[in-house]
Amino acid sequence: MTLAEEERADLSAATEADAWRSLVERLNRQSTDKHFDAYADVAWDAPEMRIDPHDPRWELTERDPLGRTDWYKSQPPEIRAEIGLLRTAANMKTGLQFESILQRGLLEYAAKLPNGTPEFRYAYHEVIEEGHHSMMFQEFVNRCGLEVKGMPKLIEVLSRRVVLMGRRFPEMFFIFVLGGEDPIDHVQRESLRSDRDLHPLLERIMRIHVTEEARHLSFARHLLKQRVPKLNPVKKFAVSIQAPVTLGIMSGMMLRPPSSLIRRYNIPKQVVNEAYGDPTARADVASSLRKVRNLCVELGLVTPVTKPIWRALHIWSDD
Ligand SMILES: [Fe+2]
Ligand SMILES: [Fe+2]
Repeated sequence: MTLAEEERADLSAATEADAWRSLVERLNRQSTDKHFDAYADVAWDAPEMRIDPHDPRWELTERDPLGRTDWYKSQPPEIRAEIGLLRTAANMKTGLQFESILQRGLLEYAAKLPNGTPEFRYAYHEVIEEGHHSMMFQEFVNRCGLEVKGMPKLIEVLSRRVVLMGRRFPEMFFIFVLGGEDPIDHVQRESLRSDRDLHPLLERIMRIHVTEEARHLSFARHLLKQRVPKLNPVKKFAVSIQAPVTLGIMSGMMLRPPSSLIRRYNIPKQVVNEAYGDPTARADVASSLRKVRNLCVELGLVTPVTKPIWRALHIWSDD
């Protein structure tokens, strides 16, 4: 490299570092200016917020793979509503378990940061915001009056390793973060955009959530853009293999109903296979991952070696 080239590289690295710092500082200010409290900002006890498990507004719509099946449509209205409510509550339970892993990983990440970095304050803002989300989700679960289960035990145990990545391998950890946050954010934004008559409690929770998640997604995305290109080839290869595997597992878990729901309502196996094996359902999952997939392409993580993994897990799409 000539001296002029070296100077140019130094200059662009300095501009990049400045841009990253000002982004994190902006997110920090936004977290201070606009944040929500799980109890002060949700009118839990207002009469219209009461949860009736047989309220038709809980019913799954045609946009849900299970909601599209003849089996679901042939159920009595109360059962359809109950399944829809249980589905929503189970998503919240899984969501709060995911947030717990995320919070612990963020604390590990923050523990390694030197003094004076704005990322420390950011990580704590995010931990606190996730704490409020988890309280909202758990309060919803408590009030729905149904027995709600979240993630499979095995995944919960394996996820403890993810927590340590927050400290040891943040690039891998933030891929996991996007794998959980991006699909849920996509689904919530779609529901809020649809003309469906949403229960006001669910609508309030989702609005609070998408507002704060926008910051979390922005941080994770920019952190990866900043750090992945600087990884050594071995670590970069590890991330490129792990990314589709993590995203495939996470999106499947977030977007499919838990097996406890399938057992409770005796949903026949072929109905479940028909619903979730169907090309439209697979395309929906792949589309919920569009943003994170495009980011992986941009970061050079999708290569001729790793693309077949994306395809095999049905999370690739050429859109
Ligand atoms: Fe959250
Ligand atoms: Fe989040």
